[in-house]
Amino acid sequence: MLIIQAPAKINLTLEVLGRRADGYHNLSSIFHTLNLADEARLTPADEMRLSVEDQVEGCETPVDERNTVWKAVALFQQATGWEQPFHIHLTKRIPSEAGLGGGSSDAASVLKGLCQLAQQAGVPSPSLMELAAQIGSDVPFFLLGGCARVAGRGETVVPLPPLPPFYWVLAKPKGIGISTAEAYRRLQRPLADTMEEDPLFAAAGPHTGRLSQSIDRRRIETPENLMGYLCNDFEGDALPEWELLIPIQKRLKSLGALKTLLCGSGSTQAALCRDRFHALDIERDMRSCELDIWVVQLRSR
Ligand code: C5P
Repeated sequence: MLIIQAPAKINLTLEVLGRRADGYHNLSSIFHTLNLADEARLTPADEMRLSVEDQVEGCETPVDERNTVWKAVALFQQATGWEQPFHIHLTKRIPSEAGLGGGSSDAASVLKGLCQLAQQAGVPSPSLMELAAQIGSDVPFFLLGGCARVAGRGETVVPLPPLPPFYWVLAKPKGIGISTAEAYRRLQRPLADTMEEDPLFAAAGPHTGRLSQSIDRRRIETPENLMGYLCNDFEGDALPEWELLIPIQKRLKSLGALKTLLCGSGSTQAALCRDRFHALDIERDMRSCELDIWVVQLRSR
């Protein structure tokens, strides 16, 4: 049996550039993994089977083809011709439609797990980056994890040095998920000239360019150094559920959050905290029957 962690992510910056001819959007973003993680267990079996233990109240993760894990298995089998079936058991701690990348991370962890097991069986490894991009835009990042600058529709991933383990409080309204496709559609971005976005071209996403430089130069040593860089283009009235999220944001700010930040296209909001005690204070004060709350840290691998 092989056990692999599948961490959640936070977008420290998320700038959505033009809409592309293929329906996706070019983005410029800095992703960082968190210490909130799902877990995938792969056990050789007579036939392929997926089971899920949902630890987030109210979440019902599908075990059929809608689950990204099936896509990962099918693409891996196609690319390698290796048809050894597995029982894959997922323990889900990352909520879905929350902007934390749970489904994408699960798929990436299964790709990595299958690759490791295939190598042990003498099967040559395929290019996981290509398979990952076919599963979903965020999946390539999760093959690396840590901190990275992400461009294109998500397939260009440039690693950055990881940040210190800063504390955040995540707050998600219970039962409210946001469809990523709908959130992108509502942004109404103009058509882009190109399908590519040069990740080294800082002006493509000015906030992302600036933060990426500061991270490279090791200038982000405290949460106070980071707070002024955080941004997310999905924040605002274009997001269908924004009205619902405003009171949560206000409450986090009133409790002294250094900065609040929408995670991906929502519905989770993250509050950057001074330290662990500050995070635990905010968590205690935010606790209510309408919110799911987590205290998390940035984590590199
Ligand atoms: O790639 P993924 O399946 O995760 O994306 C879900 C939807 O989000 C896409 O169908 C697309 O509408 C939108 N999207 C986008 N541009 C991206 C990533 C996602 O428009 N870079």
